Amino acid sequence: MNLRLTRLDKLYYRLQAQHVCLNWAATEIAPMSGVVFELGLGHGRTYDHLRTRLPDREIHVFDREVDCIADCTPPDDRLWLGDVDKTLAAAQERFGGRVVLLHADLGTYEAERNEVIKEILRRRVPPLLAPGAIVLSDLPLVLEGASPLPLPDGAREGRYFLYRRSSSS
Ligand SMILES: C[S@@+](CC[C@H](N)C(=O)[O-])C[C@H]1O[C@@H](n2cnc3c(N)ncnc32)[C@H](O)[C@@H]1O
Repeated sequence: MNLRLTRLDKLYYRLQAQHVCLNWAATEIAPMSGVVFELGLGHGRTYDHLRTRLPDREIHVFDREVDCIADCTPPDDRLWLGDVDKTLAAAQERFGGRVVLLHADLGTYEAERNEVIKEILRRRVPPLLAPGAIVLSDLPLVLEGASPLPLPDGAREGRYFLYRRSSSS
């Protein structure tokens, strides 16, 4: 029987791929210096994962609101509140070319809103990235200067999206 993926399947495979990719990326960036950007605090689950896996890394978190589990609230000086189109533009002044890992978890169930987010990320993300930086995303992206990578073992293709910026600056 060749069943279509149900909504439950999709959620399960997305979280599985997210978990595998975050762990892979945390190891991958170990020899590189730079900051981490987490786009989409949400309930704080992936932020909590990143801060635990990367305890010595400066992690900046972006969302239009704080609606997370209380103990997952980022420190004020690393929290960028507002629409990412504006906050990423502001962050570029300080962090342009210095982001070594960017995780974007901004997608919704609304296709039109996802297209808007993809367009914002297409414009805002490339200038932030350090040479060799890794980008993980719940949405497929087009990023100048970065190429798609296959997902690590244990993650199902098409459930998460992985990119690496070229290592030449
Ligand atoms: C799926 S949730 C993130 C889940 C989170 N990573 C976690 O593991 O708990 C998506 C978040 O993106 C935020 N978001 C969506 N579009 C945004 C935008 N244009 N600017 C800022 N935040 C946005 C929403 O407010 C929401 O909190």
